[in-house]
Amino acid sequence: MEELKIALLGGGTVGSAFYALVQERLEDFQALGFSPRFLGVLVRDKGKPRPIPPELLCTHMDLLQADVVVEAMGGVEAPLGWVRPALEAGIPLITANKALLAEAWEALRPFAEEGLIYHEASVMAGTPALSFLETLRGSRLLELHGILNGTTLYILQEMEKGRTYREALLEAQRLGYAEADPTLDVEGIDAAHKLTLLARLLVDPAFPFPRVEAQGITRLTPNLLQEAQAQGKRVRLVASLFGEGGRWRAVVAPRLLPQDHPLAQAQGNILWVRARPLGEAFVTGPGAGGGATASGLLADLFRFLSGSLGHLPAPAPIPPLAEGTPFPGVE
Ligand code: NAP
Ligand code: HSE
Repeated sequence: MEELKIALLGGGTVGSAFYALVQERLEDFQALGFSPRFLGVLVRDKGKPRPIPPELLCTHMDLLQADVVVEAMGGVEAPLGWVRPALEAGIPLITANKALLAEAWEALRPFAEEGLIYHEASVMAGTPALSFLETLRGSRLLELHGILNGTTLYILQEMEKGRTYREALLEAQRLGYAEADPTLDVEGIDAAHKLTLLARLLVDPAFPFPRVEAQGITRLTPNLLQEAQAQGKRVRLVASLFGEGGRWRAVVAPRLLPQDHPLAQAQGNILWVRARPLGEAFVTGPGAGGGATASGLLADLFRFLSGSLGHLPAPAPIPPLAEGTPFPGVE
């Protein structure tokens, strides 16, 4: 049995759930010939109660002793400062942090190209999004539309039931769906981070985060949502990637959708694509929460232990001639 030394950065919603899931799945590690051991769990405040043995909590760690680094701390500069030396030493990184990948891509891209970065959990948590899209490489993408943010989906679903925006946001935070700074969720920035990662995987490995046009849900009122329902429609925050005028456009915006559309019917996150020759396909499931995200991190850890490379960026095809659709907009 080979020892697997894991350095875990972050012991919050996701980090704690990941720690628990590894303990629950020890037999699966053993079946692969590994015995996992946490070197430590990096946190800011060692005194905060959390379901991780206190002796593992630390505010400093030597990541170069690790076989793999799992990052669930959030932010950009702080995690970059931790993971870069480890990547330079050839230690693989498994991360749920889409902000880090979207905004520090210049620094991280060489390591991603080496196959050192795994990030299934960064988009739609443990629901397969990156691995779903990787299979699409056999087709040419025509358009992609998705609900990629669980917090705003929850808020809109709850407002449709009559709850206020404020109540629904507080509950999404309590459930562990929201970012530490929920502005990222409600202003569409988190969905824009995720759409950037999908665009890099599918159409252009250098797709810059600022090229995503992002709008959030803060201007939507309960009246507007109820009017939409009265017309047989639903408002959802939709992330879209489509060809227009010979270039790819990436847009996050609230959209008015017919109630029978798969995006309107989805109870969780959803990713819907139209591709040639494949046709239409979608995947839907939980996109936020500790357990759901830990599942995506663990899938990547098993992927790494089974010897497959991380999620590699794609070459950059121009959009096919058939144009996509941005969906009808909402006022
Ligand atoms: P969280 O509950 O706020 O946990 C963050 C953890 O990182 C905390 O333990 C915190 O320490 C630690 N931390 C943050 N900055 C630090 C620093 N500078 N130095 C040392 N420790 C630091 O956040 P989360 O919800 O688990 O999310 C973590 C990451 O996963 C984020 O990138 C998020 O976007 C991503 N993600 C989250 C979800 C979700 O549903 N929550 C889903 C998918 C992806 P303290 O506890 O001491 O403050
Ligand atoms: N805050 C994010 C969301 C977490 O609500 O979707 C999952 O990435």
